[in-house]
Amino acid sequence: MSGNAFGHLFRFTTFGESHGPAIGCVVDGVPSRIPLSEADIQVWLDQRKPGQNRFTTQRREADEVKILSGVFEGLTTGTPIGLLIENTDQRSKDYGDIKDTYRPGHADWVYQQKYGIRDYRGGGRSSARETAMRVAAGAVARAVLNALVPGGVSLRGAMVQMGPHAIDRTRWDWAETRTNPFWCPDAAAAQHWEGYLDGIRKAGSSIGGIVEVVAEGVPVGLGAPVYDKLDADLAKAMMSINAVKGVEIGAGFDAAALTGEDNADEMRMGADGKVNFLSNRAGGILGGISTGQDVVVRLAVKPTSSILTPKKSVDAHGAEVEVSTKGRHDPCVAIRAVPVAEAMMACTLADHLLRFRAQSGGF
Ligand SMILES: Cc1cc2nc3c(=O)[nH]c(=O)nc-3n(C[C@H](O)[C@H](O)[C@H](O)COP(=O)(O)O)c2cc1C
Repeated sequence: MSGNAFGHLFRFTTFGESHGPAIGCVVDGVPSRIPLSEADIQVWLDQRKPGQNRFTTQRREADEVKILSGVFEGLTTGTPIGLLIENTDQRSKDYGDIKDTYRPGHADWVYQQKYGIRDYRGGGRSSARETAMRVAAGAVARAVLNALVPGGVSLRGAMVQMGPHAIDRTRWDWAETRTNPFWCPDAAAAQHWEGYLDGIRKAGSSIGGIVEVVAEGVPVGLGAPVYDKLDADLAKAMMSINAVKGVEIGAGFDAAALTGEDNADEMRMGADGKVNFLSNRAGGILGGISTGQDVVVRLAVKPTSSILTPKKSVDAHGAEVEVSTKGRHDPCVAIRAVPVAEAMMACTLADHLLRFRAQSGGF
């Protein structure tokens, strides 16, 4: 199976299955002498890890990362960075009843068709367990960005819609994302979501959501026209996350309803001699190149497909069956997609930063 690596100069390759002994990744291309420790990575993994509240899967994983290579005396050496997390809570028996049946909306059937064999335990390689390694690689990418970009890059994610219930953007407060279980920047919306998601969870159902990631401090000039535009690579990065079905940058799909006047990000000279944009409908990217404004990406995440409610499916013997998944799962996977989306943004920006240095020699 190819397709397990992402990026060009900052490149990571992940391996491992949901119920194998471990998952891991190799991050290649990291410049030398960048400070990096296990604690720098662990802090981000702790945000993604399951079982933190009743709205995420009760699978108990410590998600403790080990650095196997590429770091010496607290600094990167320029050699491949090997990272490993042992799987400690694999209850394969939970999945025994889907061994020969295919969950509607999951990858079971296509994996079987394509490879003729599949590790059905917890979805094997198609499980979002793999996203832990994206978060680990993302932590390395953050270290690269913060070491090489003067002033650093701030990368933050939030959930802005659960099912049909969107936040009120006038109430946006980043500090709120740390105080509720949904990364929700609107305190009132978070309170409403709590009751709403409890109902979904108790009914054995699931619901989708929209995640937004904002990167501040991105320098002008990242992105390589024409096929490696920054927005094209961000779309690929986000679309590669499990359960993501749509990606938009800046005004995104709403831009289709705007006039040219409304959509134009007008420009003026600032007192400091720098160009000021009067709005940011472009989401910080023009012509595939970063403008220096905030880079803003949103992703639509579908509802968890493994649900208790019985759904029509077929089995490996060609019989029509009903599937109900009794294993542990998240009623809204968009919540745990937030740190993963931040990580994919970090990896994409770090890759383009190194490519920018290679071509243009820095800032
Ligand atoms: C953080 C995260 C956790 C997930 N947990 C589950 C889960 O518990 N059960 C499930 O059916 N899908 C879960 N998914 C989604 C599946 O991995 C995904 O739907 C599946 O691999 C099929 O891929 P696709 O939806 O991108 O087509 C999760 C996704 C993310 C991002």
